[in-house]
Amino acid sequence: MAEKKVLRMGHPILRKTAQNVEEFGTAALSQLLIDMEDTMKVEGGVGIAAPQIGVSLRVVVFGFKNNARYPEASPVPFTVLINPKIEFIGDEIEDEWEGCLSVPGMRGLVPRHRRLKYSGYSEKGVFFEKYAEDFHARVVQHECDHLDGILYPMRIKNLLSFGYAEELEA
Ligand code: NI
Repeated sequence: MAEKKVLRMGHPILRKTAQNVEEFGTAALSQLLIDMEDTMKVEGGVGIAAPQIGVSLRVVVFGFKNNARYPEASPVPFTVLINPKIEFIGDEIEDEWEGCLSVPGMRGLVPRHRRLKYSGYSEKGVFFEKYAEDFHARVVQHECDHLDGILYPMRIKNLLSFGYAEELEA
């Protein structure tokens, strides 16, 4: 296992714009992806972005079959997404509860686009694109926000819908 420490909100790396990956298929990139996947699994997340483990590169991984943090969510295939681009489809916006490994213990109601197309590169540098909606689209938006220094609390419209998960669920 190569679990890394997850940086928490307030850390300067989480506020930076991450850099594009320029070279694919390197040992460094493959180690980064292993570290991200291990950390995500140990922490029980549905996705993670490289800046969360202190690496300011445009790399995210996400996916799960079932997740204790989001018991209602439909499964999302495990995906490595590098240098991503998002194109929103339509203007439907949905509010849903989100959490983040960098904001431990908290939840907030976050508006996100319901449908989108995302594209980017695989670990080997192969370009791909995919359509996503609902929770899948939400995870993509949340993880890609990390690459631009945005954490979900910055997108909450009403701070009354932000708090500690234990208190909100009580
Ligand atoms: Ni996050």
